[in-house]
Amino acid sequence: MVQTLTVLGLESSCDDTAAAVVRQTGGTRAEVLSSIVYGQTDLHSAFGGVVPEIAARAHAEKLDTCVVQALEAANLTLAGIDAIAVTAGPGLIGGVMSGVMCAKGLSAATGLPLIGVNHLAGHALTPRLTDGIAFPYLMLLVSGGHCQYLIAHGPEKFTRLGGTIDDAPGEAFDKTARLLGLPQPGGPSVEAEARLGDPERFRFPRPLLDRPGCDLSFSGLKTALMRMRDQIVAEKGGLTRQDRADLCAGFQRAVVDTLAEKTRRAIDQYLELAPSDPVIAVAGGVAANTAIRTVLETVCCAKGARFIAPPLNLCTDNAAMIAYAGIERFRAGARDGFDLTARPRWPLDQSSPAMLGSGKKGAKA
Ligand code: KG4
Ligand code: ZN
Repeated sequence: MVQTLTVLGLESSCDDTAAAVVRQTGGTRAEVLSSIVYGQTDLHSAFGGVVPEIAARAHAEKLDTCVVQALEAANLTLAGIDAIAVTAGPGLIGGVMSGVMCAKGLSAATGLPLIGVNHLAGHALTPRLTDGIAFPYLMLLVSGGHCQYLIAHGPEKFTRLGGTIDDAPGEAFDKTARLLGLPQPGGPSVEAEARLGDPERFRFPRPLLDRPGCDLSFSGLKTALMRMRDQIVAEKGGLTRQDRADLCAGFQRAVVDTLAEKTRRAIDQYLELAPSDPVIAVAGGVAANTAIRTVLETVCCAKGARFIAPPLNLCTDNAAMIAYAGIERFRAGARDGFDLTARPRWPLDQSSPAMLGSGKKGAKA
């Protein structure tokens, strides 16, 4: 009989400090018993981006509170936990170290097994937590720190079909907002402005569409936007509300078109593996964007694939996905010792070449 597992997860790889308890009984779908997330947006807002040192200190200060609250919300003590899972990379190294040290302390004090989890695997396995889907499936991670297409074959087996060679899309939304004086995080504010704008007025590039494959690039969009903004300011002395909305709409349309075409290509590559019931899942904060979500759904539908978008609180950074990935690793026999290290880079697909560039989360994974 398959053992019931209750795992405490910790996440601290970027600007969210999180702890969660997830339980899986036998072969059934796992249940999130608690999920506590403390965002750090306020701490970083004055600096226009995540400051690694501030993030690491805030994680170190907040993690123990998060753990206590996650256990309380799950109505458990550490005696009811079977293992401790922690994000061991990739991410901002000071934050990842805070989490790993906290998890080691808990493991040393209780004797509970320690399981290091790849943050990207946490995102990539979330559709199994939320929808119980079987391997293989195609995954698109789109957030402020990541953008990649992955085929998930197993809890620790992923093939990367492509990814961004520079900025992640969320990063591009955030930079666009900054260039236009809109509030952070940029995604929701740019999306709100874009609703009022004309996407045809400004012609943004569609980066890398002229090249085969699924790699993406978003940094050119920000440069294009800056030029357009500066030209309007030079001609008219400033931006009107309509100018701003039209720039947002044009930028968002370029992101949507690019993701649509690259997703079509990723699905074609995935279908070559010939799964009988193709499933495409998305994760990451950018999946909150209605225009992006809609186009991805349309593309999947046209290709005859099922589209899965986990609820937003499990799409963005959280510790439930880390606890769940820990359950999958634990069932596969994985255990880590006190030599578990925090890793700034940790590609999911070790056979793919490393991604270039560095984003909100540090070096691209
Ligand atoms: O997954 P997430 O919470 O954190 C990581 O970056 O890992 O994603 C946050 C990113 C931010 O860059 C934010 O601007 C973007 O997701 N985002 C959006 C929207 N909501 C959040 N981007 C576009 N449209 C949105 N509605
Ligand atoms: Zn993430």
